[in-house]
Amino acid sequence: MFVTALNDLVRPDRYPRSSRYDPAWLLDLDMGPNPLWLLEDLAQNLDLRPGMRVLDLGSGKGATSVFLAREYDVQVVAADLWIAPEDAAAVFAEAGVGDQVEAVRAEAHALPFEAESFDAVVSVDAFEYFGTADSYLPYLLRFLRPGGQLGVATPAMTREVRELGAVPPHIKKVVGWEAIAWHTAEWWRFQWEITELVEVTSAHLQQDAWRDWLLWARAGAEHQPDGRNANQPVIDMLTEDAGEFVSFALVTARKV
Ligand SMILES: C[S@@+](CC[C@H](N)C(=O)[O-])C[C@H]1O[C@@H](n2cnc3c(N)ncnc32)[C@H](O)[C@@H]1O
Repeated sequence: MFVTALNDLVRPDRYPRSSRYDPAWLLDLDMGPNPLWLLEDLAQNLDLRPGMRVLDLGSGKGATSVFLAREYDVQVVAADLWIAPEDAAAVFAEAGVGDQVEAVRAEAHALPFEAESFDAVVSVDAFEYFGTADSYLPYLLRFLRPGGQLGVATPAMTREVRELGAVPPHIKKVVGWEAIAWHTAEWWRFQWEITELVEVTSAHLQQDAWRDWLLWARAGAEHQPDGRNANQPVIDMLTEDAGEFVSFALVTARKV
């Protein structure tokens, strides 16, 4: 059996900032592949400055919001649908960033914010649930100031499902129809650029995203209650895929 030590999630050579976070803490907040690794890579193409007001959209249990506050000294609004804001707020208080991060229950199509009230919107492993409709980018941009930045990390495919003609069986078995929202990085680039509402500053697949995800799922299998049952289907999917189709897209843009 493959055994993954918690320390395999500490990789200072590849992810220096994320490596400062306790992997046990991170796994406790698990809702998907290592969100700090995704954010750390994504943020390389963002210009986050101290004091900026950042919306973390689909923030889940809050690890990325803690990271944004600590690493970039920004003010964060952590907006999520499924996770109770009280639970996220407890994570922020315990992490010592309670004064920098506000937890809000929000549905991504009915955001309770003022127009142009954010300097940046960041979304890690959540946009696939609500952000693929043609009308979504224009809607979201209402909340971003002119020149404001948008950064999305979202599960992706190396080729469009439409082009393949079907969701590959090993992916369909685990993800079902939802994989049709896993677009290529080029799909995102075109989808956003064609609006002429943003300048796309980067759009690429994360290097070895499938391997990172596999490492994360194996760590979850070893170290979470019921981790084996919860993670084995994903482990099987990624092992069979071996990077042929499954990846993560990292996409950044500036509102014009
Ligand atoms: C896979 S989890 C990822 C959470 C977190 N970003 C992370 O990486 O750990 C997806 C998140 O998207 C949020 N989400 C899904 N649909 C949403 C919607 N319509 N509006 C707001 N948030 C939504 C869920 O509440 C969930 O926390």
